Amino acid sequence: MINTKKIIDMKGKEPITMITAYDYPTARIASEAGIDIILVGDSLGNVILGYDSTIPVTMEDMLMHIKAVRRGAPDAFIVGDMPFLSYEISPEKAVENAGLMLKAGANAIKLEGGEPYAETIRRIINAGIPVMGHLGFTPQSVNLLGGHKVQGKTPESREKLLKDAKILEEVGCFSIVLELVVEQVAKEITENVKIPTIGIGAGRHCDGQVLVFHDIVGLTTMDLKFVKRYANTYEIMLNAVKSYKTEVKNKVFPSKDNIFE
Ligand code: KIV
Ligand code: NA
Repeated sequence: MINTKKIIDMKGKEPITMITAYDYPTARIASEAGIDIILVGDSLGNVILGYDSTIPVTMEDMLMHIKAVRRGAPDAFIVGDMPFLSYEISPEKAVENAGLMLKAGANAIKLEGGEPYAETIRRIINAGIPVMGHLGFTPQSVNLLGGHKVQGKTPESREKLLKDAKILEEVGCFSIVLELVVEQVAKEITENVKIPTIGIGAGRHCDGQVLVFHDIVGLTTMDLKFVKRYANTYEIMLNAVKSYKTEVKNKVFPSKDNIFE
């Protein structure tokens, strides 16, 4: 089984693979495919609960899905994503919620933000809970950032990202997700820290890559530049359901093969 030490050791040697999973079947698939890290992302708010942001996602939502993912992937390294307001209010509350994620079956947690959360992260790690950082475009701050914008374009933004990454390394994060960061800045960050960077829309030079499960398999249908769709599952499922409907309507299903005599 992979652990945080092995993940750190992969830096510079072998690209780290991470995808999200939210339930039993997606966890099984991710695990059987040999993915290094499964993230139970709060992106489940958009992807499977149909919200238009991750803001409404609760601890209860996250815990339910972490438990399902653990059942589907008993041996996987699972990261639980801290939802909006589960860690911002106080370090005490953050430690408590991070602990609940571990009790539900996660091996580590992830939270969004840099310097303002240094103390919170330190406290979570002191409680024995590994933390994955998350910088760049941080979806829980979408209202502050003014939309889904690529980060690191200005000298100030680049400086801030480099500084925050260094702080996350210093407080003891075992890796950092870089989301929507210009490739050159993600490269600089990757070269500047000893812990692995895992990119999503952050170019080719990160130590690993992460994508949303439903985006990879084409269950989501929005075209995103940083995503590669490896299958068109939406169409496959739609055709299956249409076929079922047609066969029942036409009395083709059930056939002799499906009955008990
Ligand atoms: O929630 C999520 O899926 C994430 C990844 C995009 C990194 O945070
Ligand atoms: Na997330």
